Amino acid sequence: MTPGDGSLGASEATGSVEILITREQLATACAELGEELSQIFEGSEPPIMVGVLKGSTLFLADLVRAMSIDVAVDFMAISSYEAGASQPTVVRILKDLENDIGGRDVVIVEDIVDTGLTLTYLRKALSERRPRSLRTVTLLDKSARRIVPVTLEHRAFEIPDVFVVGYGMDFQGRYRNSPDLLAVRDLPRLANEPRLLDRPLFGGRDG
Ligand code: IMP
Repeated sequence: MTPGDGSLGASEATGSVEILITREQLATACAELGEELSQIFEGSEPPIMVGVLKGSTLFLADLVRAMSIDVAVDFMAISSYEAGASQPTVVRILKDLENDIGGRDVVIVEDIVDTGLTLTYLRKALSERRPRSLRTVTLLDKSARRIVPVTLEHRAFEIPDVFVVGYGMDFQGRYRNSPDLLAVRDLPRLANEPRLLDRPLFGGRDG
């Protein structure tokens, strides 16, 4: 699918952000992906849907509700940081799965694939545990920023190189609960004024 344009109400912060993908488009994408995945696993043991914390939680919740088969749900938390200017990015597991995935069908549920480093690490770590099958479903693909090529079996939207918040994704821990997906046009300004989007998103509650 391709993202559509949207607009937020008039506000002096409006120019900093715009709706990239509406809640209706997100719901449609979840319904389509839910059906696609259900068909693949119909008649098999329930697949394990692995949510990557925290960004994928809203997508995972909508996706599994759009599936017409039983599934198991588990979570992982990953941290990644650049060890140094000329050094590779280090990815490590902060919270591991509770399920043994050996012999099971596993679906990694990602919010966004950007450089591809996180997903490359995850796919390697999980495939070493010998699942029956391993797939990835991502809501967003920012392929213009890819550093390492990585396999993506299912993808809802290809997006341009913009920073996004909402529908699970954050900026410094904020704005995850916006029901629409927003593109931040003025990231430096948001960094200076972290509450900049409160008014356009949540009706201007000051505090
Ligand atoms: P990658 O390892 O560069 O592919 O990073 C993927 C992770 O970076 C995602 O799971 C997000 O947590 C984060 N990320 C990348 N781009 C964005 C964005 O535009 N908004 C919010 N988080 C992002």
